[in-house]
Amino acid sequence: MALAALFPLSLFALTSLAQVPGPYTPEVHPPLTSYTCTLANGCTAVNTSIVLDSAYRWLHDVSGYDNCVTDGFSQALCPDIATCAKNCALEGVDYPSYGIRADGDAVKLNIYKTDPATNVTTLSSPRLYLLRDEETYESFKLLGKEFSFDVDVSKVPCGINGALYFSEMNEKGDQNELNQAGAKYGTGYCDAQCPSTPFIKGEANYNSTYGACCNEMDIWEANRAATSYTPHPCNTTQVQKCSGTSCGNGDSRYLGLCDKDGCDSNPYRNGVHAYYGAAANFSIDTTQPFTVVTQFLTQNGAANATLREIRRLYVQHGKVVQNARVDVPGLTPADSVTDAYCSEQKSVFGGVDDTARQGGLEQMGRAIGRGVVLAFAIWDDASGYMAWLDQERYPADADPSKPGVGRGPCPITSGRPDELIKEFPDAAVVFSRIRSGDIGSTFTGDGNGTVVFGKRRVRH
Ligand SMILES: *[C@@H]1O[C@H](CO)[C@@H](O)[C@H](O)[C@H]1NC(C)=O
Ligand SMILES: *[C@@H]1O[C@H](CO)[C@@H](O)[C@H](O)[C@H]1NC(C)=O
Ligand SMILES: *[C@@H]1O[C@H](CO)[C@@H](O)[C@H](O)[C@H]1NC(C)=O
Ligand SMILES: *[C@@H]1O[C@H](CO)[C@@H](O)[C@H](O)[C@H]1NC(C)=O
Ligand SMILES: *[C@@H]1O[C@H](CO)[C@@H](O)[C@H](O)[C@H]1NC(C)=O
Ligand SMILES: *[C@@H]1O[C@H](CO)[C@@H](O)[C@H](O)[C@H]1NC(C)=O
Ligand SMILES: *[C@@H]1O[C@H](CO)[C@@H](O)[C@H](O)[C@H]1NC(C)=O
Repeated sequence: MALAALFPLSLFALTSLAQVPGPYTPEVHPPLTSYTCTLANGCTAVNTSIVLDSAYRWLHDVSGYDNCVTDGFSQALCPDIATCAKNCALEGVDYPSYGIRADGDAVKLNIYKTDPATNVTTLSSPRLYLLRDEETYESFKLLGKEFSFDVDVSKVPCGINGALYFSEMNEKGDQNELNQAGAKYGTGYCDAQCPSTPFIKGEANYNSTYGACCNEMDIWEANRAATSYTPHPCNTTQVQKCSGTSCGNGDSRYLGLCDKDGCDSNPYRNGVHAYYGAAANFSIDTTQPFTVVTQFLTQNGAANATLREIRRLYVQHGKVVQNARVDVPGLTPADSVTDAYCSEQKSVFGGVDDTARQGGLEQMGRAIGRGVVLAFAIWDDASGYMAWLDQERYPADADPSKPGVGRGPCPITSGRPDELIKEFPDAAVVFSRIRSGDIGSTFTGDGNGTVVFGKRRVRH
């Protein structure tokens, strides 16, 4: 079954391959139309597509079927970094079987998948990236611009997070001599939690010794009960391999390369409990779809200036809805994220101001100016039950009357993965109409805010 058997003359070329595309399942990226918009001309469709992260794929002996990683790396296939990269192939995937369905400009991510042969439901928890072409992630450069999408969170319960965010990944997925598979196979993931991915820049990460750190802008972490948007600046440019203290784990949380806590903006946590929830009497009714707009405003409006504010707006039922204003004693009633908001929030809610230590919005803005990759995910939380996002008390033993403790209306007993899979086997988020462009160009709606609206005509 080896490629060499079919194309003996390419044997020489094969010997230089590494973490190669697999021979068994072709990788066919589901198309997902997105849009770029200008004030002058409205929105234009772009033929983008999606790709599943490499860690979800079968990684096996390039000329056979043995797994390269089971409980740790195979001694036989991966005795060292160079041999491992040469021996191991990443397979293409069947997207629906991972709970991923794209249709036109919408993508639905189910957290669970059901095997049709057995009807057994298991966790899939897919993570996807947006591709510009077969081998390149779309690179969003959003300084002085805005980014919008529509979302349906009506089937995302307490404890599950349907997320859409940017990480400063390399647009080729860190393709190199070791990693020939690249973005086409979803390689190169990194984020501000510095996850211990199996490979970093094509190098096998033996014993999970290293982490993959990079700047992360969480545009949307939410379910139908709670929502948050959060910059996480890091002292990095694209992926940086961390080890020990620089990964910021455990006691080193505030000594690493990244701001792991971030500076979150969550209406419930900010004291506005009637703003976002699953009923018609909330400002945003999460039983229905709505539009989420995020604006990256710079000091002077230019695309090469310093990021000073990350503004949020919503549109639902044709109306622009201003973001919730902070309603907490001792805090300025802000409705967007600025350095002042972040440092005030940290001092009143308590906690280390790691956002400022990492350079705050200016540092986040540098990444957003260089270009960031769009990720979609849906996940549950076996260790923390997503309490930081949606529960009445976080930590569970804290006094809920204290500012910043309540994150959402979900009980502290919610979010248990074993119960979620039984109660909500169809849990899924739908993201659609992804668009970016000039401030005011990506959405329309009637409103009474300070927004200058773009052209109302959207050309598809
Ligand atoms: C996008 O895809 C459509 C349908 O396949 C095609 O007609 C169109 O030419 C493509 N546009 C670009 C810019 O490639
Ligand atoms: C799976 O469930 C469907 C619908 O409930 C049923 O029709 C089918 O027979 C089941 N298959 C198995 C293998 O149990
Ligand atoms: C990984 O851990 C194993 C078992 O502790 C050890 O034998 C091996 O030397 C380690 N490998 C590396 C590359 O650190
Ligand atoms: C919405 O209405 C329900 C039922 O009348 C009520 O219990 C709840 O407090 C209301 N919520 C808000 C946010 O007004
Ligand atoms: C930003 O771009 C403008 C126009 O291209 C240029 O004149 C200016 O020097 C740039 N500023 C910085 C800080 O790079
Ligand atoms: C960022 O990294 C540089 C280079 O390693 C270092 O000099 C600087 O102190 C770091 N900044 C922070 C805030 O850790
Ligand atoms: C917008 O209009 C609504 C109802 O007309 C009003 O309650 C609200 O205060 C207005 N908001 C602003 C920002 O003017």
